[in-house]
Amino acid sequence: LNNGLARTPQMGWNSWNFFACNINETVIKETADALVSSGLADLGYIHVNIDDCWSNLSRDSKGQLVPHPETFPSGIKVLADYVHSKGLKLGIYSDAGLFTCQVHPGSLFHEVDDADIFASWGVDYLKYDNCFNMGIKPIKRYPPMRDALNATGRSIFYSLCEWGVDDPALWAKEIGNSWRTTDDINDTWASMTTIADLNNKWASYAGPGGWNDPDMLEVGNGGMTYEEYRGHFSIWALMKAPLLIGCDVRNMTAETFEILSNKEVIAVNQDPLGVQGRKIQADGENDCQQVWSGPLSGDRMVVALWNRCSEPATITASWEIIGLESTISVSVRDLWQHKDVTENASGSFEAQVNAHDCHMYVLTPQSVSHSDV
Ligand code: GLA
Repeated sequence: LNNGLARTPQMGWNSWNFFACNINETVIKETADALVSSGLADLGYIHVNIDDCWSNLSRDSKGQLVPHPETFPSGIKVLADYVHSKGLKLGIYSDAGLFTCQVHPGSLFHEVDDADIFASWGVDYLKYDNCFNMGIKPIKRYPPMRDALNATGRSIFYSLCEWGVDDPALWAKEIGNSWRTTDDINDTWASMTTIADLNNKWASYAGPGGWNDPDMLEVGNGGMTYEEYRGHFSIWALMKAPLLIGCDVRNMTAETFEILSNKEVIAVNQDPLGVQGRKIQADGENDCQQVWSGPLSGDRMVVALWNRCSEPATITASWEIIGLESTISVSVRDLWQHKDVTENASGSFEAQVNAHDCHMYVLTPQSVSHSDV
């Protein structure tokens, strides 16, 4: 969507994956505090997004949405002011249907009122879900909220959440700043890898202003190993997915923080070229030895060697497969070891990757040195 936002994928936090409906204004404030004190905010995680269940179960007598009186007694404006005072942005959630997925009031046919009230509260981001949609096509239900948000005059990031049901990559570029390409993620290796593959299919449709959204991060929620979460984060970054943290950032382990705060991986996600990397090779049994890659600014490339097999494997990325000219030499930097592993690779490079682990590299072409000619 050409509203000046989402020049790179959005980064921040969302309440759903960890808290589900157990949210309140204290959790949101403490999360904002934790994003700042941990340093994550400085790394780019600036959106603090409230998901479903923030509103009262019915609209007020004037037909307006109201925050739940027990869990958000101070109201959303006060919360937005607080979040803004920390240099962060506040996101909210509604639904392009009669109700949200947890059966709170939806915004279908209330688009103008709801956009106005969100803007008046100082909301910066709207995630717009797809439950209770009365069988009306998404392509009909999502534009009215885009127009209503635009008419408020406030800059509001518009995140479509229609779960990929109508192939939104094909039509949502003019409507939203990101669009979900899949059903909900859960905190398992099977879910995460399946979703990565589904999102991969739409790589060519992503770019500055509109990104494919394979759903929020599960890193730190406990259902996967350290290596599996490292792969999750690496591949989401490479796919130019939104990096929306889904754990309790007030209580992160050192390992979780290490993954989420990897500056070099974040830089891949936020690279100004904005091209979604993709799966370019899948070898071995069940195609489990995988190479994912894509171009970065400055003629560099990102390459991930992702071992989805249950045994260690040596995975090779050849120039032919990743699309580098055969004569080019590159330096190879390992983004998880934080070191240059090879100064002069030509033709291919390989690494031994543990089961369910993922290595991630940036390849920088060597400038041709005349004394060598
Ligand atoms: C849907 C969305 C989720 C979350 C829940 C909330 O399932 O896809 O991301 O927002 O609704 O009810």
